[in-house]
Amino acid sequence: MSREDFKASLEALQQDLWAVKQDDDAYLLKTIIEGYEQAFEGKTVSIPEPEKVLTEAVEAPVEANTNQSFIDALNGDLSREYQAAIQYIQHASVMEGAEFISIMEELMAHADEEIAHAKKISDRIDYLGGVPVATMEQAKISPDAIEMLEQDKASEEEAITRYKERIEQAESMKDYGSKNMLMDILEEEEEHRNDLIIALGKKSTPVNEEEEPDLMKGGLADDKKVDDFNPAQIEMGKKVESEHTEDEDIATEITKDHLTEDPKYYDKLKEIEDK
Ligand SMILES: [Fe+2]
Ligand SMILES: [Fe+2]
Repeated sequence: MSREDFKASLEALQQDLWAVKQDDDAYLLKTIIEGYEQAFEGKTVSIPEPEKVLTEAVEAPVEANTNQSFIDALNGDLSREYQAAIQYIQHASVMEGAEFISIMEELMAHADEEIAHAKKISDRIDYLGGVPVATMEQAKISPDAIEMLEQDKASEEEAITRYKERIEQAESMKDYGSKNMLMDILEEEEEHRNDLIIALGKKSTPVNEEEEPDLMKGGLADDKKVDDFNPAQIEMGKKVESEHTEDEDIATEITKDHLTEDPKYYDKLKEIEDK
């Protein structure tokens, strides 16, 4: 039964009930209600308050519909998380060139995080009473490294938009468990997007200045200075990273991030390249 049909039936029900109530015919009233209970798939219709019947019957399916549309939307998110994971693995595997070594590692790390997102969303769908999908959106591939990174960035931007919508939905349903989970995921998607922007050597163009005023927000070395690191490593890093970006500040920031992870990062990178 469509929502419009359902509403029309309820209006008819209300009229019937009022008419019968005025006649004070309890038997007829009971018969009508039983008929409607069957038509409304077992939903209980109480006797003999037409106003209350209408309120209860209208509210119940609205709640169910909202929950179902939320589950459907989460399933859409889930299929995109699977896509993102597979896409990252494929891109990281086929990408070639010394200048992409650090981003290849990042992409593999992203793949793991996308799978972690998928696990959380799948679990949540089950918890909400839905069935998680086991299918994925079509992954995008390309023979060109830059195009791959653009494809990944576009996927992250789509994910950010979707999760912002989902957070609003969860909030409106007072489903704070889902909301918190989605906010954690959103934060990671924003980091992924920033990683890709940096890899592409572009200035960040925050969707919203207030939300992302700091280009390098979330970077490991946010509170570290260049002097905190080995100067030789910093020099090597700036040289390597400036192959991805013309912006010296960005190259330095990426260098600091890598050296925070591993103080000998660029020695190790050189060893790999010299092999
Ligand atoms: Fe994700
Ligand atoms: Fe992501």
